[in-house]
This record gives sequence, structure tokens and C-alpha cells, in this order.
Amino acid sequence: MNSLVRRTKQLSLWRTYCVKYSAPEASSPSRNAGRSNYEEFIGHHQRQARRSIVVQVSSEKSYAELYNYCSRFGSILAAHHYCVRQDEALHYVLLEYAAPDEAAAAIDAGVSNGELAGVPVRSPFLWFRAAAAGGRRGPKLAPNLQLTPPNLLSLDGTRQMEQAHLLAIMRSAPGIEEQVQLLHEHTRLNELGIRMRFLAALQVQLAIAGMFPAAQAQPFGSSVNGFGRMGCDLDLILRFDNDMGARSPLEASAEPSRLVYHTKENLSNGRSQTQRHMECFGDMLHLFLPGVCHVRRILQARVPIIKYRHEHLDLEVDLSMSNLTGFYMSELLYMFGEMDPRVRPLTFSIRRWAQTSGLTNPSPGRWISNFSLTCLVMFFLQQLRHPILPTIGALAKAAEPGDSRVTEDGISCTFARDMERVGFKSRNQSSLSDLLLQFFEFYSQFDFHNRAISLNEGRGLSKPDHSAMYIVNPLEQQLNVSKNVSLEECERLRIEVRNAAWVLESEVESASLPEGEGERQELSWGLLNLFKHPEKAVIRPNMFFKPRMVEVSDLFEEKEAAGPMSTSAITYKNGSVRQQVQSIKAATRSELKQLRGSASSASTNSPKNRRSSR
Ligand code: GTP
Ligand code: MG
Repeated sequence: MNSLVRRTKQLSLWRTYCVKYSAPEASSPSRNAGRSNYEEFIGHHQRQARRSIVVQVSSEKSYAELYNYCSRFGSILAAHHYCVRQDEALHYVLLEYAAPDEAAAAIDAGVSNGELAGVPVRSPFLWFRAAAAGGRRGPKLAPNLQLTPPNLLSLDGTRQMEQAHLLAIMRSAPGIEEQVQLLHEHTRLNELGIRMRFLAALQVQLAIAGMFPAAQAQPFGSSVNGFGRMGCDLDLILRFDNDMGARSPLEASAEPSRLVYHTKENLSNGRSQTQRHMECFGDMLHLFLPGVCHVRRILQARVPIIKYRHEHLDLEVDLSMSNLTGFYMSELLYMFGEMDPRVRPLTFSIRRWAQTSGLTNPSPGRWISNFSLTCLVMFFLQQLRHPILPTIGALAKAAEPGDSRVTEDGISCTFARDMERVGFKSRNQSSLSDLLLQFFEFYSQFDFHNRAISLNEGRGLSKPDHSAMYIVNPLEQQLNVSKNVSLEECERLRIEVRNAAWVLESEVESASLPEGEGERQELSWGLLNLFKHPEKAVIRPNMFFKPRMVEVSDLFEEKEAAGPMSTSAITYKNGSVRQQVQSIKAATRSELKQLRGSASSASTNSPKNRRSSR
């Protein structure tokens, strides 16, 4: 291992990356033959959030004083420091107590800020103000009574690694395999990031607990499915009833109560009622919840959401109330990630490649989303000759009564949760770099024009409509996950996977050559050559159909008419080279023709496509 990698390992001591660093406690998720169960993972973090508070401090140097002050409420198990950088860095410490009532005691000891004319809301977000001169707010502890706090588990724990630093680490890795692993290790959402997201969820839940004691605000999406990177947004689902997860045997067998709550009847239909509730809820978040700002309501979308920013957690949040399939989909992705250690690193590299190629973009649009791209990776891993992942159909088949989950609109999200019971074992031994190359090769060949991707069956199906890309929604099989993807974006994907296959193939070859190892640290090599310069990766939705395209076809068609042996001024002396050039031209010509054909058929079928393919 070279010195840069060693130095980075030391550096990572001040950052916490994974669960193994978290404080020991009774409720840590049990391991199922080395794998965590999703519901236990979620439950563990929910309980942890109930034992936690977040306190703003003037700097990390206040930690010892804060620890001593807050220890009066209970035993502190763990402490993490992080910064929110706006004009200046604001410092926070997340404290985890041993029991929820200890955290509650600390919160109850809070007072409202007399200097601000704000609403005095009780929440786990607090500020550690300076002790008053003369000790008016309580005597200082004598030095011999001061507790020595345990080390902070994170210092500046949400800081993302600088791009240059990350690239330097990857450059000095011994091979492409290690580059893929390092990228995953240094960019994935860390333990502190997960804790903070569960605290954001708890804040929402506590805010309405009086009226809705059974309400549940649950993180889903990349924050919890194991595919999230540092700084990813938080997808949150709020349910007034606790209808997520299995009913315990006790609940199932309990005698129905004869005391029934009086209830206001909703006369409007389900959707407009949800929109009305969300509107009202958006106002409440905006007016009362500390840290919540920039509240936006997007209520006309298929899944209505409220977007907001949490300034104490440095977090963008999407809150929905009616998307339980998204929640269960996160469970499926979590399980896939747990099934084989190659799944997550591979997906991270592919997501990064897509981001730097401008194929994905944080805002929604006509390009492929990270979720659809993740589905492409999962499908690729299912359809291999020796599959690395089972089909969703196989998981559904292995389900037992305890796995039964049905959403309120009757969508079945039933599949086996116990991975051992599924009994799937992969015989695939491919390395990460081989899999990456195979992924690009597979999609360079994939017939997006005629085939739909089904993760339920792990094979291509004939496409039921003219969408440019069709990924059968695993939990609502009549829907297409990638319906938003335009023909231009699908073509861009095909071009980019082809380029990537070409680049990676030569990288794999040169990585196996013994010479030039010294130069590697200076050069961009291996995975790095797949990642284009981020500044250059801009979304250009109509790029493929711009007039430039016509010039390309001119090159292949009109000039050809001047003579088969000469395009521009080139004369081919070698017959086999001439033949190769001609066959490349013929293939490109037929592709262009196919492309035009599919563009015009899509444009006659979709008014949206007609606009963009002009
Ligand atoms: P990033 O936010 O880009 O990091 O990824 P993400 O996985 O969180 O994606 P996104 O925020 O777009 O969606 C959140 C989650 O909702 C996904 O992880 C899925 O679990 C779920 N989801 C999104 N789109 C669909 C869909 O079309 N069908 C289903 N069943 N679930 C979806
Ligand atoms: Mg998300």
C-alpha cells in the first residue's frame, strides 16, 4: 500500500464512515448470517434518534464543556461534531444518550430564546449559549469534578472529501478494482449522515405526535437503501397511521377495542384530500419547525411532495405522504446491496460515471434518474450467465405470511425479507473491473428500441409502448420507471456506454501491464479516465438532434457519393483498412437510419417528443 493511501487511512480517523464506529448499545441491528435486516436497521436508527439531541456550539472546542453540562441529564454514549458552512462555519454536536428519557430530560431543560421574537417550539435542536458572567446560570464544576469526555466519534463529520483529494487517492490505488472500492468507501453516506436524517424524520413526527400518536415519519430512498452518497437528499414519508412494516403477532391476535375515536369525515377524494393535508402540513413546517426553511409545495406531481431545507442539518428534504411503494422499493434495493459486496461499489462507480458524463442531473427532467440507473445495474446483475442477484419474482415466491405488505391502494409489496430463506447463492466470481466493463458492454448492445427491462423476471420483455426506455416498475408493474427519459437521452446513454466500454477496455489492458507504475500517481488512469471533467458535464437535452448531427450524416452519405475510396482527401492504400472503414461507415449509416426511424415514430406518438426532436 503506498504512502498516499496510508495517509488517507489516517485522515479518515477524523471522519466516521460506517456503522462499525457507532457506539455499542443494546439495540444494534442483529445480523442475519452477516447481513442486516432492513426493518431492524430502520428500527435501530429510529431508536437512536429518540436518544439523541443536536446542540449548536461556538466550535468543537466547546465539546468538553457541553459534555459536562449535558451529562447531568444522563449517560452520553456517543458524540459527533459537524459543521454547516454558509457565510461562516456553524458548529454542531450530536449527542446520543443511553436512554430516550435522558434525551427528553435534556430537551425539557431547554428554555426559549428571549432575544428572539420566535415561536417557542420544543424540539431536539438546541443552542448551547455561553455561561453568564459570575455563574448566574449555575455554578461551574470544580476542575476535579469535571468529567473527561470520550473522544468525538467525528470531527467535521459531514465534510465531503475534496474532489482533488479523492482523485489523488484513486490515482495511487494499485488497480481498477481498488479504485472502485475506494470511490465507494470515500463517497458513501456515513453513519453521522444517517443519524442526522433520522433526526430530521423524528422532528416531523414529534411535531404532530399530540394529534397523531401513531404517526410515523420514515426516511427512504438513498438515505437508507445503502446507495446514498455524502450530501444526498432525504426522502421522507409521513403516515398518520403506523401502517409500515409487519403487524406483530400480538397486534394481529388482539381483541378489537370497543372504544372508537370520534373522527372527522373526509368528503373529498383521496388525492385532493392528501394535497389539502400536505398544504396545511407545509404551512406548519414553514411556520413552526426550527431549522426548516425554503418550504416549497409540489402538489400536482404524481406523488405530491413538500420540499424543504433543514439549515441545522444541512439537508434537502422531500416529504411525501402517499408513496409507500417507494418505501418498500428502498427495502428491495437495501436487500440487493446486502446480498453481495460488489453491488454497492459497482453502482457507485456507475452513478459517478453517469454524473460526470452529464447523463444524470440532480433536478428531475427528461434524463435518466439515479433510481432508474440503479435499476439498470440491478437488472444487469440479474441477467448474467451466473447471476449475482435473484429476480424480484423469486423473492416474491419465497415470501411467507409475515412478509405480507399491501399499501392502502392495494399494491402488493410482499417479498421474502429473510435473505437466507430465498436461498440464493451466486457462483459468479467476476472482479469489479470485469463487471464494470461487462455492464457497459451489455448496455451498448441492449435493444432499448424493442425491449423492456424487468427486474421481476430478470430478463428483457417486449416493450408495451413507445417510451424511449422502458423499465417495468417492480412494485407497480403496469408503470414504467423511466417514462420520463426522452429518445435523445436514451441515445446519449447508448453512446456514453459505448464510449465507456471502449475506454475501460483499454484501461483494463494497460492496468495489467507491469511498466509505468511510477507514472500512475501523476496520471489519470483506470476508473478516472471514465470520469469526465465535472465542469464539462452539462446537460444538453437536444444535443443529439442539433444540426451538428446532420453534418455527421453528410460526412457519411454525401461525400460517399464522390467515390467509395475517398472520404474527404483520404486515399486508402491498404485494402483491409479500406474495408474496415467501409464497414464502420455502413454500420453508422444503418444506426443513423434506425435512429431517425425511431425519432419519427416516437414523435408521432408523443407530443412531448415531437417538440424536442425538431
Ligand atoms: P438520489 O436521491 O438521487 O440519491 O437517489 P434515490 O434512490 O433517493 O432516488 P429518488 O430520491 O429519486 O427516489 C427515492 C426513492 O423512491 C428511490 O430510492 C426508490 O425507492 C423510490 N422510487 C423512486 N422512483 C420510483 C418509481 O418510479 N417506482 C418505485 N416503486 N419507487 C420509486
Ligand atoms: Mg433521494
